[in-house]
Amino acid sequence: MASGKFITFEGIDGAGKSTHIAFVADVLRAQGHTVVTTREPGGTELGETLRNLLLHHKMHLETEALLMFAARREHVAQVIAPALERGDWVISDRFTDASFAYQGGGRKLALEKLNILEQWVHPDLQPDLTLLFDVPLEVARARLDAERALDKFEQEKADFFAATRAEYLRRAAEFPQRFRVIDSTRPIAGIQVLLQQILAQL
Ligand code: TYD
Repeated sequence: MASGKFITFEGIDGAGKSTHIAFVADVLRAQGHTVVTTREPGGTELGETLRNLLLHHKMHLETEALLMFAARREHVAQVIAPALERGDWVISDRFTDASFAYQGGGRKLALEKLNILEQWVHPDLQPDLTLLFDVPLEVARARLDAERALDKFEQEKADFFAATRAEYLRRAAEFPQRFRVIDSTRPIAGIQVLLQQILAQL
């Protein structure tokens, strides 16, 4: 049996990744794969409870990082690992790169602490493909302002998002074999063509 693949979607708030998740899932299903779509923080009942705390309560930056990884531990155990073992494909709206970008880049938590948590929580699991939707800050901000009430992260200032974006791009350069950086200012139709090409190479 062909084994499943693990695909993650990343980008700063307002980068537009959500638009493309349904498209990628549809493409994969049309190819005959069973696809599980999920998200972080969240993806399990406990994880969604933690998400609510994380997105709406102020807390120490280390508490925030630990809760992100606690939710992730549950997510890997309950959802991601079992799906991949069944041979399903898993699409996650964010994963550990988001912790490096937001808690590491944005909040300046030492990356070595995040490395330790990553080693603890998923020592043998990495995405097969990470799609990083990249946009200039002004574009992301304009998209956010058009949406609903902003959560704790979305209310952060421009320098937080500049640092978050920079850490995403640094990781993309560090792990070029699994990252694809997508210019998310392009029209949706053009991005969809690109996504199909990327998926065909998997
Ligand atoms: P997001 O994925 O943007 O969902 P929505 O589209 O519903 O707003 O929201 C999740 C937020 O959590 C986002 O601002 C990034 C943040 N986050 C972290 O700071 N660290 C993490 O490890 C993860 C997974 C998310």
